Amino acid sequence: MTNTITTDTAAPDIAAPDTAAPSVVARAAGLTRQDFPAGFLFGVATSSYQIEGAASEDGRSPSIWDVFCAKPGRISDGSSGAVACDHYHRWEQDLDLIAALGVDAYRFSVAWPRVVPAGRGPVNAAGLDFYERLTDGLLARGVQPHVTLYHWDLPAVLQDQGGWTNRDTAYAFAEYSAAVAQRLGNRVASYATLNEPWCSSVLSYELGEHAPGTRDRAAALSAAHHLMLGHGLALPEIRRHAPQSQAGIVLNLGPQESASDRPEDIRAARHADGRFNRWFLDPILRGEYPADTWEEIGGDAPPVQTDDLNLISAHNDFLGVNYYTRGVIGAQGGVLPEGASVTDMGWEIHPQGLTDLLLRLKADYPGLPPIYITENGAAFSDERSGDRVHDPRRTEFLSTHLNALLDASQAGVDVRGYFAWSLMDNFEWAFGYEKRFGLIYVDYDTQERLMKDSALWYQAFLK
Ligand code: FCB
Repeated sequence: MTNTITTDTAAPDIAAPDTAAPSVVARAAGLTRQDFPAGFLFGVATSSYQIEGAASEDGRSPSIWDVFCAKPGRISDGSSGAVACDHYHRWEQDLDLIAALGVDAYRFSVAWPRVVPAGRGPVNAAGLDFYERLTDGLLARGVQPHVTLYHWDLPAVLQDQGGWTNRDTAYAFAEYSAAVAQRLGNRVASYATLNEPWCSSVLSYELGEHAPGTRDRAAALSAAHHLMLGHGLALPEIRRHAPQSQAGIVLNLGPQESASDRPEDIRAARHADGRFNRWFLDPILRGEYPADTWEEIGGDAPPVQTDDLNLISAHNDFLGVNYYTRGVIGAQGGVLPEGASVTDMGWEIHPQGLTDLLLRLKADYPGLPPIYITENGAAFSDERSGDRVHDPRRTEFLSTHLNALLDASQAGVDVRGYFAWSLMDNFEWAFGYEKRFGLIYVDYDTQERLMKDSALWYQAFLK
């Protein structure tokens, strides 16, 4: 198999499901936190819409996800985040659980519709109070707060004006970001502007699977550009109000490998890499769009104004990387390698892809900032048996990926932390509550939380 991606590592044999290899599992089982560089951060992550609930409390306005969930057929179990894990009311108990895990850091997101309900204009102090309680509650428990400013819950009023296809949204985002950074300031260890702009543009405006659910490639490319512009405009606001905090962005990335050495497959994989990875990495880290992909999208290219790319490529203190799987791409689209083991999402389990990705980032982007793995995890159909949830596959997933990260770190990639997705089961977007990603099990009837075996493993690993 030929690897079409510019990486300095050999492509793994796609027919071999490497997670099953006993040596990998055995090595992962012996992993301890002392194997990681000094000061390496371990954490767990969540996002506002997926856990908070309390959709109309304390002045919160509807987000595009409230609107999207109300449309028939968009969420597979017909649910919404209206209650979710009721974290808005149970936050103290949840912070106790985070502390009990023994993690160093917690990554959560701020809901824009709580803070600036009209999208732009007056700041709702009550909305910020909640995040201030969270921040201080974490600090009191010795856990670092890591904030994401946009994890997809755009105020619905802004969608009425075009959402991210409207350039003004980027300016509105910078104003909202300033309000958050002003209130929370240096108490927050890091601010990430955006979570996964590929999802909030392509998945949302082109593939129609996420809010707002449109299917229009030009709209998606315009949204992606304005998202990145929003990132560029927000960075100086964060630095102004929280000069001691780290500021950066979170991207979802993964190798996009060719399914065969046929030229048409290689071309398709290169295009997939351009759309998925380089479309975001290149503007942010190099100040330019990838020329090959730009050419391929022809008349759907985004409206770039003078100076946009300068703003977009401003210095980041860190790059957050969310890694779940790789793509194996043929001319007809993505394929699942024969014999691959998959999660409940149908995503191939491929820890080697994380090593490959990190090495490639280091090789291709000379100005690469320090990296945090801001999400990594897996959905499995967990079942409760009494007071236990046995999820050995998740433990294996996490430990083999930590090993893969360690390989990259030992090969010289500056990786500073790892956040498992997710603290607890939650609203998994278009899949509603059908997919469980948590280390902690949530019984949605009673809101009871229960540490799964993987949480107990993480806890023991962190001791
Ligand atoms: C990522 C999202 C996160 C969660 C995981 C499974 O794309 O950032 O909210 O849904 O996937």
